[in-house]
Amino acid sequence: MFVWNDKYRVHIWQIDNQHQRLFDLVNQLHEAMQAGKGKEILGKVLQELIAYTHTHFVTEENLMSKYEFPNFVEHKKAHDALIKQVGDFQQKYRNGNAFITLDLMKILENWLVTHIEGVDQVYGPFLIGKGVK
Ligand code: FEO
Repeated sequence: MFVWNDKYRVHIWQIDNQHQRLFDLVNQLHEAMQAGKGKEILGKVLQELIAYTHTHFVTEENLMSKYEFPNFVEHKKAHDALIKQVGDFQQKYRNGNAFITLDLMKILENWLVTHIEGVDQVYGPFLIGKGVK
């Protein structure tokens, strides 16, 4: 469903690897959903995706903070909003009040495409200019 493409690269190897892993995890979740996997398996994949997203955001935020990226605060707000959105969903899911559907996949797609293709591209040249590889 989500196909990695070179246009998503920010040209910092660690970040590009993490973004590709996020694509893989969203695809795993989508495949598990399509295959009609049970709540326990879907919940585990969702948890892995959330945990890895958190790891990834911390990596980016540490780099942006260390090199004093001017849009750091705004960027972190976008991260916090996504973590909250997905965290709220997970809570409802655990309580049996939400299901993993195409609606959730659309939220994740929106984040992947819009965030990685958009604001993540802004810090790329800045950090590369600071010598980050
Ligand atoms: Fe790659 Fe700002 O998340």
